[in-house]
Amino acid sequence: MPLQSMVPMLKAAQKGGYAVGLFDVHTLEGVMGVLEAAAELHSPVIVAPMGMPRKAAVALIRELADRIPVPVAIELDHGRDFASVMDAIAAGFTDVMLDVSTRPYEENVAQTKKVVEAAHYAGLGVEGEIGHVGRGDAYDRFEEVRAAFTQPEEAVRFVSETGVDALAIAIGSAHGVYKGEPKLDFERLQEIRARVEVPLVLHGGTGIPDPDFQKAISLGISKINIYTAMALAAVDTLREKLQDPNARYMELGRAVQAAIKEVVKHHMTVFGSAGKA
Ligand code: 13P
Repeated sequence: MPLQSMVPMLKAAQKGGYAVGLFDVHTLEGVMGVLEAAAELHSPVIVAPMGMPRKAAVALIRELADRIPVPVAIELDHGRDFASVMDAIAAGFTDVMLDVSTRPYEENVAQTKKVVEAAHYAGLGVEGEIGHVGRGDAYDRFEEVRAAFTQPEEAVRFVSETGVDALAIAIGSAHGVYKGEPKLDFERLQEIRARVEVPLVLHGGTGIPDPDFQKAISLGISKINIYTAMALAAVDTLREKLQDPNARYMELGRAVQAAIKEVVKHHMTVFGSAGKA
């Protein structure tokens, strides 16, 4: 299918009580693993190229998406400023995220609003972040993590002042490997969901137990971002394959692709997006 924005996908997920996965990729194996998983499970999917030449990544994903009967969106994940967002728009992404969540509230609003105006003019959807989703390796300082949780009142104001299409919130998930056990604040999620209409996004998906994903989805999360789980699976596979002194380079690439595909399929199944294309 032709590429499409994640916005209608997320609205359908919100209505249907499931979540669409965003999967970060930085290699051909990553792109192919993710799209093969989506095709096999008939799942909508959001692909986020990172560290790849952007126009080339879009051309590749478009070509592969055209051959499969599932909706595929390409989002700029964690866009850091207006220039980076403009570059992604020019490259043909379907959606962008601006993440200036470590900046003071008023600055976050001003920058996000500017991105929303430009991106909407170009026909793209926009995700913003309020509160800050940090890193799992700081999770042993949980009070610091909790201090950056999204305030429900601020989330309401942020959405109405910026016009974002989707909102990333901080409720206890964190990027990378957690030092300790992830603890999601489900009450906070419920409160935000009750007061904010746009689809809600959970970053830092790796390491969250499947039942917690499902509970978060039942309480109103419509998009979940995953990267580290795919990277860990790729490294584990390589380590195992390289035990063989005659390991062949081409086979290593195929093995990485298959490992990534399995991780993605697992998450699509848990998120309930399988069969929703
Ligand atoms: P993980 O690497 O923890 O899965 O988080 C991915 C993410 O949130 C990217 O935006």
